[in-house]
Amino acid sequence: MPLINAATDEMMDLQSFCDWVEAQDPLRLQNIATWPELWKNFHALHNTPGLFCSFLADELEQELASFQSDNRYSGQSFILARRSGFYLRVNLWPAADDPFADVNRGHFDRFYVYGSQYAHDHNFDFLTIGLHGPGYQTDLWTYDNASVAGSVGEQVALTPQGRQRLAPGTMLLFRKSVDVHAQWPPETLSVSLNFIPEVTPVSEQYLFDIHAGRIASIEELLPSTRNLEVLVRELGDSRMKSHFEQMKSELTKQKEARRAERGLNGNSGGSA
Ligand SMILES: [Fe+2]
Repeated sequence: MPLINAATDEMMDLQSFCDWVEAQDPLRLQNIATWPELWKNFHALHNTPGLFCSFLADELEQELASFQSDNRYSGQSFILARRSGFYLRVNLWPAADDPFADVNRGHFDRFYVYGSQYAHDHNFDFLTIGLHGPGYQTDLWTYDNASVAGSVGEQVALTPQGRQRLAPGTMLLFRKSVDVHAQWPPETLSVSLNFIPEVTPVSEQYLFDIHAGRIASIEELLPSTRNLEVLVRELGDSRMKSHFEQMKSELTKQKEARRAERGLNGNSGGSA
């Protein structure tokens, strides 16, 4: 999870930043790890005074019913902007003793828990920068995704990469299926800003048990499939059932293909 040094004193407001990204070659969104202009402009966006306040004020001026209507995340996250091929997300990171953390415990995905036992990877690349507060601290590892078959309980070698604090202005790049991290609560409420390209995930997301060095849980690419299964069983007619079966078999094929590819990679020089 490389620390990105793209500090600038320039400022870029939300509209200008989004317009700038949209005006670039969309293929660049496939690899934000090699895009220094994006890093600099993202830092310039973060420099904009009152970025989150003015966004919230604008949003709240609109109809309440449409507030964050495109947000599928927990109450911990707000979508700041969604454009073609990317979106910007603001995350709140409560202190451990903040009542907000308790109130929202049920909304926290277990992939995003604080503490030393579990760490997770991500199945997409993204940039994050500290906006407010001291920032969470994060312990970092990397792993070799190509050598992982992908089953719960599987042993995975995690290589420690130190610790960072996402203080205001600190920018980190999370690389899909490479970087793994555990998070420690900040001393006081902190806020971060993410830039996330909308690229179809090509791998599962893993939750690692750090102490055991094993995969503790796997987030499927389409977690809602299980709910869909219930609905199809309950309400489905033959057409719906047939399409659902097709979708499931396609997902299974994709999963097997990914695992086969990893197996091949692993045999041709991978590591444990
Ligand atoms: Fe994360």
